[in-house]
Amino acid sequence: MFQVSLEKPGDGPAIEKLLDQSFGPARQGLTAYCLRGDVPPLPELSFVMRGAAFLCASIRYWPVAIDGRRDALLLGPLAVGQAWRGRGLGKILIGHSLARAKALGHGVVLVIGDPEYYQPFGFSSDLAAGLSLPKPVEDGRFQACELVPGALRELSGGVGPAR
Ligand SMILES: CC(C)(COP(=O)(O)OP(=O)(O)OC[C@H]1O[C@@H](n2cnc3c(N)ncnc32)[C@H](O)[C@@H]1OP(=O)(O)O)[C@@H](O)C(=O)NCCC(=O)NCCS
Repeated sequence: MFQVSLEKPGDGPAIEKLLDQSFGPARQGLTAYCLRGDVPPLPELSFVMRGAAFLCASIRYWPVAIDGRRDALLLGPLAVGQAWRGRGLGKILIGHSLARAKALGHGVVLVIGDPEYYQPFGFSSDLAAGLSLPKPVEDGRFQACELVPGALRELSGGVGPAR
């Protein structure tokens, strides 16, 4: 019934509406937005889920720099429309996109979100312990995941927009 597909150019307005509804109009002030800068999301990792007629969910990834180097992905925003929550769509989008990111050769993914939600995918705040954000977030919400074992071992420093 619900299909995962790459975002199409015409999906932009429906995604913006979904993000406004999911994160509120002040979402541009969230720490994750500071990390994205003026850089566009990665089209090859921007997925949506559609039902018969509606766009129900969206996930996007941004490239981010760690210590000035372009080394990691930032997962999100992830949003599932209110009417479709609790049916596993969020989980499907995360699993699908992380598998694609790994297949494309990415090694490190960062996220700012609920630890209980992201832990099953391998995210942990311990893995992000050597990294710092430009603005503080609640304890435990800044997490990292290694798509390539050991990929974070050599990385530390501040996270910021990719250039
Ligand atoms: C968070 C969100 C993406 C979850 O989407 P969803 O499709 O409803 O989630 P799923 O159905 O895939 O849930 C999978 C599991 O996570 C749990 N879960 C859902 N939201 C959760 C949350 N915020 N924190 C912890 N666990 C959560 C579900 O109970 C479910 O558990 P189960 O597998 O034991 O039944 C959705 O609620 C949403 O868009 N929220 C507003 C925007 C947001 O907060 N996005 C995430 C930013 S990091």
